[in-house]
Amino acid sequence: MRKINVHYLILIIYLCFLNIIIYTSLAAQEEKPQVTRLKIDVERQVGEIDPKIYGNFIEHLGRCLYGGIYDPDSPLADEKGFRRDVIEAVKKLKVTVLRWPGGNFASGYHWRDGVGPRELRPRRLELAWKTIETNVIGTNEFIEFCRLIGAEPYICVNLGTGSWDEAREWVEYCNIEKGTSLAELRASHGYPQPHRVKYWALGNEMDGSWQMGHRDAEDYAKFALEAAKLMKWTDPSIKLVACGSSTFGRGWTDWNRTVLNYLRDYADYIAIHTYLNNRRNDFPSFMAATLDVEDRIKIIEGLILEAMSQTRRREPIYIAYDEYNVWYRAFEDKGLEETYNLEDALVIATFLNVFVRNAHIVKMANMAQLVNVIAPIRTTKESLWLQTIYYPLFLFANYCHGRSLQVYVDGPTYKTETRPVVPYLDVSAAFNPKENEVILNVVNRNEKQAMPAEIISQWGTFEGKARIDEVNGPNIKAENGPEGEKVKIESKEIQVKGDRLTYLFPPHSYTMLRLKWQKPTSH
Ligand code: AHR
Repeated sequence: MRKINVHYLILIIYLCFLNIIIYTSLAAQEEKPQVTRLKIDVERQVGEIDPKIYGNFIEHLGRCLYGGIYDPDSPLADEKGFRRDVIEAVKKLKVTVLRWPGGNFASGYHWRDGVGPRELRPRRLELAWKTIETNVIGTNEFIEFCRLIGAEPYICVNLGTGSWDEAREWVEYCNIEKGTSLAELRASHGYPQPHRVKYWALGNEMDGSWQMGHRDAEDYAKFALEAAKLMKWTDPSIKLVACGSSTFGRGWTDWNRTVLNYLRDYADYIAIHTYLNNRRNDFPSFMAATLDVEDRIKIIEGLILEAMSQTRRREPIYIAYDEYNVWYRAFEDKGLEETYNLEDALVIATFLNVFVRNAHIVKMANMAQLVNVIAPIRTTKESLWLQTIYYPLFLFANYCHGRSLQVYVDGPTYKTETRPVVPYLDVSAAFNPKENEVILNVVNRNEKQAMPAEIISQWGTFEGKARIDEVNGPNIKAENGPEGEKVKIESKEIQVKGDRLTYLFPPHSYTMLRLKWQKPTSH
């Protein structure tokens, strides 16, 4: 009996130990996620990154223009009423191209209302946002602002309530040097030199029923084609952006196919818009949402190829993602002034990753919008503060240049309701030959766990000091505000040598690594 008891006791102790070993090894597996392998070859290039993907957008809406970029009553205004502090913050964001005057506003805007002596400019009912437009800011003030921040102007013409002639004449007013009455009108307004506005949009979101003058695809395409002809005949050097989709319900591809087929000999870009939201408070799905953006880009690329196969034209048609952002909390009642948090900033980083990964076809993108209204910069009368979404755009716009690289990514994934495979690490990369630098952008979509990655150079080595900039905060809901910043950039340097390094990407983070690259001597 005693003998049996001892054996029994030993067996129990043994089983307990076994349990502990199995449990701890399982727990260790959970704690240590599988390493993602990121293989980079500086010769495996997708295309040149067009700096215009770091564009922005200002609309006559809420406090974007009035009380944002222009605020003559502020102690921070310059002699023309533009906010000096805003100009500085925008310059740091390296905005390459600035879209104006809308948005929905553009579809009811008549440009003549906004030129000439201010005291003669009419106050008009503004139907897009149900307000009154004073026309204090018009074409010439917009151009002046663009020059102050160093951005190319990009004007959206009114193809809602406007006419072909009005669109064509706007090009003439801006771009014809002399010898016509509209060139002289501009000169009489104090601008003898032409503004040389290169980028023009053929209306805004004409696929949407909310748009003034909304039409079906066929009617829009025919109308836009006639406007396009007149505008290009006025100034053949301009580039035109046709309205693609801003909604993606059933049959959305038909709109784009029709527009491309009509406009394939005149349009240089097709515009796509996307606003994302986290209404369901579902972080993993929200973090995967830009994979839909990437699918849409690929579908439209196919439609472009299809349209191009039917024409002799050889100049390419590109995609202009000329409105993108997170937007769901603030509407007219709050002046569209969203306060962004860390998860929103991470989604912006994944938007930018998508644009870089598709650099061969996405040649323009405009965050909507620049100041106060769904914006990276917010103002009070006496100061400004930077939202969380400012920081990823700042890093990309300042440092992610050169050629986009196709990165091989192999690592752990997760599932959402609509996507069976979402990589935890969302990655884009570029090679900047001027700096001999590989730029790697990595968003860790995992809220709880740091994710390790082995970064491998398949040809050549990484050498010297690598710069690391990380956008992160205490938790995914952390926000910035006038009283301080919870989400910002933390920077450090590490020493690297050889063809690989391992890096641990912290939970809920966006990290940019800049690695000096050296060509192998044997080649
Ligand atoms: O950016 C805000 C609005 O969103 C724009 O006016 C419109 O184009 C889009 O629907």
